Amino acid sequence: MIQLIRGFKDILPGEVELWQEVEKTAKSLFDDFGFKEIRIPIMERTELFARSIGEDTDIVEKEMYTFPDRKGDLITLRPEATASVCRSYIQHKLYAADPVRKFYTIGPMFRRERPQKGRYRQFYQINAEIFGVDSPLVDVELIFILNTLFSKLSVPDVTAHINSLGCPDCRPDFKTALSKFLTSVVDDLCSDCVRRKDRNPLRVLDCKVPSCREALKEAPSILDYLCTTCIQHFDTVKNALASLDVPFVVDKRLVRGLDYYTRTTFEMQTHALGAQNAVAGGGRYDGLIKSLGGPDIPATGFAIGLDRLTEIAGLDRSALFKTPDIFIAALGQKSRILAFEWLCALCLKGVETEMEFEDKSLKSQMKQADRVGAHHVLIVGDNEIKEGSVILRNMKTKDQVSIPIENAVENIKAKIS
Ligand code: HAM
Repeated sequence: MIQLIRGFKDILPGEVELWQEVEKTAKSLFDDFGFKEIRIPIMERTELFARSIGEDTDIVEKEMYTFPDRKGDLITLRPEATASVCRSYIQHKLYAADPVRKFYTIGPMFRRERPQKGRYRQFYQINAEIFGVDSPLVDVELIFILNTLFSKLSVPDVTAHINSLGCPDCRPDFKTALSKFLTSVVDDLCSDCVRRKDRNPLRVLDCKVPSCREALKEAPSILDYLCTTCIQHFDTVKNALASLDVPFVVDKRLVRGLDYYTRTTFEMQTHALGAQNAVAGGGRYDGLIKSLGGPDIPATGFAIGLDRLTEIAGLDRSALFKTPDIFIAALGQKSRILAFEWLCALCLKGVETEMEFEDKSLKSQMKQADRVGAHHVLIVGDNEIKEGSVILRNMKTKDQVSIPIENAVENIKAKIS
């Protein structure tokens, strides 16, 4: 038998209802905050991701599904959505009438990481981006939306970890100090970090190898190098989060795995997830749109890991799983035809209805109704038709009522609601 690919998964009925509920809650929150949905392709030119996410990142170096198409052009299954949303914003000049735009998009991403609980090769993200606003308050708006969504979904124990990565004015000094420090601990660094320490020292701070983490304990912090504007930006973020009662900690080690960030970065972390503790991450990326050939427009955004979010959402799955309102147990050929007409009419009226299409005994059909979790059984036999009424049985209370065949669909709907 052909099995699915390692790191990929099916989301089956019974679980998918939870995904739908999470997506519905997120969409309704995005609507309330004025975000518009945007749908972007699953594949893009490799160059888009290499230039946005950064050549030295794990994602671009090791994790992208990249292949030549039949003409030899290199294309990549998207590892994230931000680069594509920026590409679309620039390509369609969505900034022309008003640069301030808020977008959200939901869909699958692909990274060839080592699969484990909470880490997949095809995973899903709920992505939000705000273009055209410099103010730190929109960074806070994003974190506030995340916090609100998680509390609506009863996600336990989430804290926003925040940091600032500075700007092109202050970051170079930090990079120099960091490179100097890295040279002093070079013997303890993994081979990737040794290679990255001069080219892109910030990436070393993101390394997950335990010996590197140990060696970096005394590394300089970017927060000590911020310029006045970046300090003010970060202070406003902290003050606004505090006044909105959003729990947060300043995490000076948080550099994120993508190169495009400037100033505010954040991750929503929880202990409920085990090793993969980030349920969402994001930050400001003021230089990305310009570097992709667009105008100089600031931007900020986040992505939620939907797989992780559904794993820890405290919603009652069984309450979300819908079972049929009615199962029609039809006895005899004539009854089956009438039952089928009623089934179609009831479904159209929003009453979920099932029936048995084979010639089965009443006992076996009652068992089947029980198995599918039907709330009511409608018993339609040739005798009932002759007598002009059918029996509706409530499966929970076991009460039975007689329903006249004339206007049956209306009568049934009225009885069960
Ligand atoms: P990211 O931190 O790479 O950021 O991913 C965001 C979230 O996606 C993570 O916090 C995690 O929950 C989930 N995630 C990432 N990789 C996997 C995986 N292999 N399996 C399961 N879940 C995963 C970004 O992607 C940025 N584009 C976020 C952003 C938007 N920044 C600004 N705008």
